Amino acid sequence: MSTFKKHILITGGAGFIGSHVVRLFVNKYPDYKILNLDKLTYAGNLMNLKDVERKPNYEFLRGDIVNSDFIQNLFKERKFDSVIHLAAESHVDRSISNPMEFIMTNVVGTVNLLNASRDTWKGAELTADRNIFYHVSTDEVYGSLGKSGYFTEKSPYDPHSPYSASKAGSDHMVRAYFDTYGLPIVISNCSNNYGSHHFPEKLIPLAIHNIKNNRPVPVYGKGENVRDWLYVEDHARAIDILFHKAEAGSTYNIGGQNEWRNIDLIRLLCSIMDRKLNRKEGTSTQLISFVKDRAGHDMRYAIDSSKLQNDFGWKPSLQFEEGLAKTVDWYLANEEWLQKVTSGEYLSYYSQQYEHR
Ligand code: NAD
Ligand code: TYD
Repeated sequence: MSTFKKHILITGGAGFIGSHVVRLFVNKYPDYKILNLDKLTYAGNLMNLKDVERKPNYEFLRGDIVNSDFIQNLFKERKFDSVIHLAAESHVDRSISNPMEFIMTNVVGTVNLLNASRDTWKGAELTADRNIFYHVSTDEVYGSLGKSGYFTEKSPYDPHSPYSASKAGSDHMVRAYFDTYGLPIVISNCSNNYGSHHFPEKLIPLAIHNIKNNRPVPVYGKGENVRDWLYVEDHARAIDILFHKAEAGSTYNIGGQNEWRNIDLIRLLCSIMDRKLNRKEGTSTQLISFVKDRAGHDMRYAIDSSKLQNDFGWKPSLQFEEGLAKTVDWYLANEEWLQKVTSGEYLSYYSQQYEHR
């Protein structure tokens, strides 16, 4: 008989945001048992969780959410009372070159988890006070904004990239399981995250890495596209609040109220890097290189998160300049992490340790 108050399955916990969510839950809730299920794709990296891997309330399991038999058996064996689902293929550029991978993990994988949760919780006598299937999604499902306006929870879905279309598909399936089977779900749609442990294919960590190594920093098109940036730990904090407090069936937008044109963000980053690396101001901006635009590149994302702020008093904790400087400090202090990730060394290391299911 387990002595833990809750038994939570977190999927994708070896990734960027997932590792922050796992760390927060493992440290904050010693009476919750956390199972981190992750396939360890190129984006999954257990180095991200070195500081919690020996905690008694934490366990890692390597596995693929697309494997329905494996997922059904896992739920039968463990009888999780809640799920926080982050596992996904997450990079828009990769979705343009390989959409099928995105359909498999983001849509089929999500439906496998929904089926297993529904089958496990249906009519079961549960010791936990509440079951929840928490689905972590993106603001990109709403499409692209013009110069003004914000995405609200009522904005129509209008995804453009294979990534955002696959996330939109998963959101619809999650909501359908609430409407059809009464599965207690919560969905949050968040803006662009930044912070430590971010895989250096996304704009901010890629730019930090390239500036540090005096390599060109690719800016798509004219750099005029706008993103709303949120510090990853603020996202994890919002997930913690919503996981515990949001009503079943609800949706929340999470955003930083922090819009930046890509080119302005990169210029700011260049100036922070010049300062940190003791380079003459203006040195790093010379690395900016305008390259061919991304196909179907959404122009502007901006989030209205007033529902989350009004219902639960959440707000971003950091000013962007401060968060960005902290992020740069982390990358400069974690040379080994960056070196192992960019060389691919981390992949073979963990692949050998964990059998793939
Ligand atoms: P990430 O790419 O860093 O991590 C994804 C993780 O999922 C990796 O550890 C990977 O190994 C794992 N994974 C992939 N396929 C899997 C499979 N088939 N089975 C099991 N595990 C698998 O992604 P992230 O940036 O941390 O994003 C996490 C979630 O948050 C995603 O659902 C994403 O759509 C959403 N999101 C991301 C952002 C952002 O700015 N990064 C913003 C809003 C929402
Ligand atoms: P990204 O970090 O890939 O996140 P998303 O596409 O999910 O918003 O990209 C953020 C913005 O930066 C987006 O407008 C595309 C742009 N971008 C570049 O200009 N250069 C790059 O090398 C990358 C990866 C992105």
